[in-house]
Amino acid sequence: MDTSVLSAISLTELRQLTYRANAVIERLRERVFAPGTQKELELRFNVRTAAEMAGRTEKAIRDAEADGRLPEPAKDPETNRRLGYSLAEVNRMRTVFGTLPHRAPEDPPLVLAVQNFKGGVGKTTLVTHLAQYFALKGYRVCVIDCDSQASTTAVFGMNPDVDVNEEEDTLYPFLRHGGPKTLHYALRATYWPGLAIIPANLGLYDAEYEFAARMARDPAFILDRLREGVESISDQFDVILLDPPPALGMLSLSVLRAANALLIPAPPSNIDFASTVHFLKMMESTLAELERHGGERAYSFVRIIASKMNDQKSAHQAIKRMMDAVFPQDMLGAVLKDSAEIDNASANLSTVYEMTGPGVRTETHRRARAYLDAVGREVEFLARKTWPSHHAALRKEGLI
Ligand SMILES: Nc1ncnc2c1ncn2[C@@H]1O[C@H](COP(=O)(O)OP(=O)(O)O)[C@@H](O)[C@H]1O
Ligand SMILES: [Mg+2]
Repeated sequence: MDTSVLSAISLTELRQLTYRANAVIERLRERVFAPGTQKELELRFNVRTAAEMAGRTEKAIRDAEADGRLPEPAKDPETNRRLGYSLAEVNRMRTVFGTLPHRAPEDPPLVLAVQNFKGGVGKTTLVTHLAQYFALKGYRVCVIDCDSQASTTAVFGMNPDVDVNEEEDTLYPFLRHGGPKTLHYALRATYWPGLAIIPANLGLYDAEYEFAARMARDPAFILDRLREGVESISDQFDVILLDPPPALGMLSLSVLRAANALLIPAPPSNIDFASTVHFLKMMESTLAELERHGGERAYSFVRIIASKMNDQKSAHQAIKRMMDAVFPQDMLGAVLKDSAEIDNASANLSTVYEMTGPGVRTETHRRARAYLDAVGREVEFLARKTWPSHHAALRKEGLI
C-alpha cells in the first residue's frame, strides 16, 4: 500500500469522505425502504417447477388439489389465469407429500459461520444466498447477523437504523451481563417462508468493547455466550448461518466458538489470498487459544471457497490453481465467480434468488444462479452428511 497517499488525507477530509459515503448509503436505503413499502417475496413457480421442488409429479399435485388435500391453485381474478405457486404453497405441498427435508430432532443442526477476518470477500453475499438456497429447498433456516454494519439485515428488508432497536432487537442484550436467558426474543420471521433472522445494527459495535473489557475477567462467559444463545434456539432450525464482522474481535471469536462448521470465502487475487493465508494462521492460533479457555471445538467441516473469481484474469486462475494445490482437501469444489448480476442485486439490497421479471431470463442471470446453486448444493450435501437421518436418502441418491 502506498502510505504517502494515505498520510496526505487530513482528518477533516476523512470526515467529509465518511459523511459523503454515509449520504450514499442513506439515499440507497431511502429508495429501498421507502415509507409504506415492505419487502415481499414475489417468486412464483409453475406446476412443473413446483413438482420438482416438492419431489412429486405434476399429476400428484393435481390429484391432491382435486381431492382437497391441497387448495385450488390461485388464479388472477381478472384474467382467470393461474398465478403460479408461492414458496409457502410449495412448502405446503411438501408437508402434504411428506417431502420436507428437515433433519431429525436428534441430528445436530448445521451452525455455519461464513468467516474471514477481511471485509468485502463475499461473506454477506454467501450468507444471504445460502440462506435463501436452503429456504427454497424447504429447510428451516436462521440467519444471525453478527456484523454491526448490518448488510444482511438490510438485505432481509429491515432498515437497521429504523426497524431495529439496538437495546432490544439484536444480539446485544443477550451478550450483556445479566441479559436474557435465551435468544428467542431476537428471532424475527422474514418475508421468506421458513427463514428467520436475528438482525443487527450499529449498536452491536458496543458489545465488542464491552466484551473486550470483560474478557480478562471472565473469558468463559464471553467466549461461550453466543454458542449458548445459538443452542437455545437451535431445535427450531436445520441450518443456522452466522455472518460475522470483518475483523478479529471478540464477536468474531465467539462466532468461531458458536459454529460447528466453517466456510471461508477467499477471492483468488494476490492481496486477498495473502490475507486469507494470514487469516488461516490467525485462526489456528485463535482456535488453540479458545481450546485452552474451555475445551476443544470440533468442526464437522471447514471449507475454503474461491469467491469473486474472475476467469478473464490469468492471475485469478493461477492463484486458484495454487489454492487447489495447497488446500487439496479443503477447497469447496464450487466457485463463486465474479458476476455483475450478484453485484447488482446486492447494490439493490437484494439477491439473485429474489429477482423476478424478464431479467431472470437473461444468460447473465442464469449463469449467476448456476454458480450460486452449485455452492448451495455442495454445502447442503456437507450438511446432510452430518445428519444420520439423511444417510439412507443420500445413499439412494448415489451421493455417499
Ligand atoms: N461473486 C460476486 N460477484 C460480484 N460481486 C460480488 C460477488 N461477491 C461479492 N460481491 C460484491 O462485493 C462486495 C462485498 O461483498 P460482501 O458479500 O458484502 O462481502 P463481506 O460481507 O465479506 O464484506 C459487495 O458489493 C458484493 O456485491
Ligand atoms: Mg458482510
